[in-house]
Amino acid sequence: MKIHRVKSAGQGQALAAELFAGISDESPDCPVGLATGGTMSGVYSALATNGFRPKFSDAFALDEYQGISPASENSYGNELTRKFTEPLNFQGKIHVPGQGDYAGEQGPEEFEQAITKLGPLSVQLLGIGVNGHIAFNEPGSSFNSKTRVVKLHQETIKSNLVYFDDPASMPTKAVTQGLSTIKQASKLLLLVFGEAKAFALSKAINNPDESTPLAALLDHPGLELITDLNY
Ligand code: PGA
Repeated sequence: MKIHRVKSAGQGQALAAELFAGISDESPDCPVGLATGGTMSGVYSALATNGFRPKFSDAFALDEYQGISPASENSYGNELTRKFTEPLNFQGKIHVPGQGDYAGEQGPEEFEQAITKLGPLSVQLLGIGVNGHIAFNEPGSSFNSKTRVVKLHQETIKSNLVYFDDPASMPTKAVTQGLSTIKQASKLLLLVFGEAKAFALSKAINNPDESTPLAALLDHPGLELITDLNY
């Protein structure tokens, strides 16, 4: 694993934007993998500030709430439209698990097939949850997992509930790329900032087991960690 130590989240997000732009520009025929959440917002703003224009034509989202309307502000597909497609004037397609072509029971399998057909992804952006989840692969997820519907852990529900105006409307299930799906990307850019993530990162690196989904990715030759933490 290559490690980039940075002084702040902002510096790390700027670096991630630079690396993402360079890698995706080098392989314009390959799709990319996008993530959502607070950490990634800063990467997308940095890309927009730099005037980055995607050369790739397909992007795959890591995850989405199960059954959520694509019009909902809480939909990750919707978030990517607002934070990636619109500011970067992206003319291609973002494939979102559980949405559009990938809705319904066969959706996860069709999503996997689309990645196999169009992939490998040149680069996948990744964050980590306070509880160690990668996408919605919660602690205990199989390292061989593929795209599937999962139940969210109580800790994840608690930390994401703040984003929902009506807490009762928060889905308790999601569709997520599996750990082995994620591992197919040529490069993995993992961004981890802030003390709240320190335990999850250090447990995965220093004491990895089934409860640390990141452990599934540690032997990936293209894994690059960008962090402001000492672990
Ligand atoms: P965050 O989410 O960037 O909003 O902290 C990361 C995650 O839960 O994977």
